[in-house]
Parts: sequence; structure tokens; C-alpha cells
Amino acid sequence: MTETHVDPTWVQLSYLVAAVLFILALKSMSSPRTARTGVLIGAVGATLATVVLFFSGIELMNLALILIVLVIGSLIGLIAARRVKMTAMPQLVALFNGVGGGAAGLIAVVEYLVVGSEDLLFLIFTVATVIIGSVAFSGSVVTYLKLQELMTTRPVVIPLGKWITILVALATVVAGVWMVVDPQQWLLWSLLGLGLLFGVLFVLPVGGADVPIVISLLNAMTGLAVAASGYVLGNVLLLIAGTLVGASGTLLTNLMAKAMGRPLTSTLFGAFSGTTAGGGGAGGTDRPVRSGSANDVAIMLGFANKVILVPGYGLAVAQAQSTLRELADLLTEKGIEVDYAIHPVAGRMPGHMNVLLAEANVPYEQLKEMDEINPEFSATDVVLVVGANDVVNPAARTDQSAPIYGMPILDVDQAQQIVFLKRSMRPGFAGIENEILFDPKTTLLFGDAKDSLTKVVSALKTV
Ligand code: TAP
Repeated sequence: MTETHVDPTWVQLSYLVAAVLFILALKSMSSPRTARTGVLIGAVGATLATVVLFFSGIELMNLALILIVLVIGSLIGLIAARRVKMTAMPQLVALFNGVGGGAAGLIAVVEYLVVGSEDLLFLIFTVATVIIGSVAFSGSVVTYLKLQELMTTRPVVIPLGKWITILVALATVVAGVWMVVDPQQWLLWSLLGLGLLFGVLFVLPVGGADVPIVISLLNAMTGLAVAASGYVLGNVLLLIAGTLVGASGTLLTNLMAKAMGRPLTSTLFGAFSGTTAGGGGAGGTDRPVRSGSANDVAIMLGFANKVILVPGYGLAVAQAQSTLRELADLLTEKGIEVDYAIHPVAGRMPGHMNVLLAEANVPYEQLKEMDEINPEFSATDVVLVVGANDVVNPAARTDQSAPIYGMPILDVDQAQQIVFLKRSMRPGFAGIENEILFDPKTTLLFGDAKDSLTKVVSALKTV
């Protein structure tokens, strides 16, 4: 198929249009305002690319089987995407991404078995696709299991894990080179197995809070696998689309590592040297804290001049974004200055808070990024922390054993008064205690964020 077939001009033009649509989609996704349009543009590009293939003149074997699989796959994707809770989105992305990588790897194997070319570049790209695709697949499955809490979210360090991982990596490289020099089927299958094993060993030691970065990295790897499979299959569009995913995934990975305040190497290999495995424990529930009622909080807010709202993962769990907006509107009506402080990794996926608040039509100009809002906390009367924890935890500044050590945080401890809306004294995602909860200027309003906010809103109407 790869060696003899040349796509007709109209097919190549359609692929060009699809590639341009992918680029436009990525561009639009860079702002919450245009992200939805971006997703649609990308979907149109992908549909075009798929449909064109059927009419391109390529002799498709097993057409009926392809159509059946296409329908089943689309249905699974549609149902999964519609049903998934916003808070479970990262694991869904991980799973979809893993399937993409696995598909690229398998296609390369099949293409070798069918075409069996001895061409040097073909072999190099086949080997690369199989390795990267299988690592992306098994690695993504482990990230899924961690985020879905079907296994521990803490780093899993197996005895001699570092050496076993290095050994498997070396064996993969040796088998890869061997396959290129002296191609044999059993080597290709071994590469697939070694890649799968490496993916698991690579992700197991990563701690829960760092998993999103790894998902992004595996996503970039899937892009590369798809690009390499584009060469194997002689398909320019796969090459372009894969390269786009690879490049944007790499950029996102770097941005996220920066937001977490650690070099990528420490995220990936920290557990081997003991730098991510820590965590101060979640004890301390018997220490005294100051809790208040919705009325107390309404009075504090009602008499403030400046209020900053800090949304976090709990806001998404409680689906309290509209109620939070109602509160913000009420405060603004009373002449109180209100801003939302957005931490880059608040919630469970990049841009989670932006998406959530956009759903509630919160004006973009009220959303302030961490660097912009941090200098304002010291001049703020009340900070209302709604379902956030790790992103305001000062342990990130001081506790070297904490898994979040080094992550820049929102400086809420600089404000005059701090109010936390949460259900219990349980810690956040990183599993570590937050000293601010015990600060004398902190008030805790216990309960589901939506219930608490509803009560605060009605109490505020009477203040
Ligand atoms: P967390 O540290 O996870 O804290 C969430 C807080 O919400 C908890 O204190 C929890 O306390 C509270 N909560 C949960 N459900 C609630 C509800 N229904 N009503 C009221 N409160 C509720 O969240 P964060 O501050 O947003 O930090 C994000 C964390 O996730 C970071 O560690 C980050 O590294 C990690 N992470 C981020 C991403 C990205 S890219 N955003 C992806 C994966 C992981 P109670 O249980 O006591 O209510």
C-alpha cells in the first residue's frame, strides 16, 4: 500500500485543508473564549480526513470490518465523552490518548508484517512508532488507574525499580537497533512488549499530583508515534497532525512543570531520588480550628472593601460555579471589589477553573492569573477559598518533604481574613496538611460548597 499508492491531487488538497483546520483549531483552543469553536474546527478536520480516505482510491481490505469498528468506536467515544463528569476529564483524556498511541504502534507492526519493507528509513520509523506507541499506551493506562483511584495515587517505588527501568530501556534500544540492522518479526513483538513494560515502570513512581504532567508528556509521545506512523504509511496528514500534537504536547508539558515549580526531570524521576515521595501526612485533625456559620461569613464579606475568591477542585465537585457567581454579583452590587484568583493547576486539568467559571458566565476580566493577583492579597480584606487546598498551601514554600514543595502558590495567607469552604479537615489532592487552616485569622465554613454558598448568599441579602 505504501510503496505503490500515490494519492490523487484532490485527496492531497483535502489533506492540506484538514491540516490547516487542525492548526486553526489549536490556535482557537489557546483562549477560553474561542476554545469551543476550536474543538469543532478540529472535529471537522478529523472528519474530513477520515471520509476522504474512503474515496481516495486506496484499496481498503476488510471494508465491512472497518466500518463496524468505526461505528462502535465512535459510539463508545460519544457516550464516554457525554457521560464523563468534568472532574474525571483528565483520566478520560489519558485513556483516549493511550488508545491513540497503542493504535499507532499496532498499525506499524501490521504494516511491517504486510509490507515487510527492508528500506532503512521505513524500518527506523516502524521501530520508533512501535516503541513510542506502546510506551504511550501502557503509561496512559497506569495514569488512568491512578487518577481514577483504582490504584494508589502515591508514587510506587519497587525494589531496584531504577535499575530495572534502566535495564528495560537499554534492552529496548538494543532490540530497536537490532531490528533496523537485521529485521525479524520476533524482534518487533519483543519491542512491543518492552515498550509496554517501560511505560508501566516509567509512570509507577510518579506521584498523584504530578500525573497530569505525565499525561501531557505521553500525549506528546502519542503525537510523535502518529507522526512516525505517517511516514510508515506514507500519509502526509498523519505526519502533520502527529507533529502538531507532539509539539503542542511538549509545550503544555513544559508549562505545567513550570506551574508546579519543578523541573520536568524531578517530576519524572523524583521518586527514585526520594524528592516526590514525601508528604507531611494528614494528621492534626485534633488541633483547634475556628469554624463559623454562613451568617458570620456573610457579615465578614458584607463589611469588606475588597474580596478575592479562590476556586479549587471542590468547586467543581460541588458544581457551585453559578452560586459563586451569584455571590460575586451580590458583592459587586454592594460596591465591594471582587476578583477571582486562578491558580494554573487548580482543579484537575489545565484551565479547569477557567472552563468552570466560563460555564457560569463569569466575565473574563474578573479572572486573574496567579502572578497578577498575588501582590493584591496583602490589600485584601477577605479571601474566600472555595474548595481549594493545595494551591494555597504554604508547605509548598517551606516543607522540602512535601510533594508540592517548590510549586508557586496563591499567597492567601497575606490577606486580613481567610475563609475556607470545605466539608471536613481532609487534605487536598497531595494529601498533606495545610497550616493556614489553623491560622487564627482563618474561619472554616464546613459543608458542601454549593450549600454553604447558597446560605451565605441568602444571609448576605440581609446584611
Ligand atoms: P485540592 O488540593 O485537591 O483541594 C480540594 C479541596 O476541595 C479539598 O480541601 C476538599 O476538602 C474540598 N472539597 C471537595 N469537595 C468539596 C465539596 N463538595 N464542597 C466543598 N469542598 C470540597 O484542590 P486544589 O487546591 O484545586 O489543588 C489542585 C490539586 O490537584 C493540586 O495538588 C494539583 O497539583 C493537583 N492536580 C492538578 C491538575 C491540574 S492540571 N489542574 C490535575 C490533577 C491534579 P473536603 O474533602 O474537606 O471537602
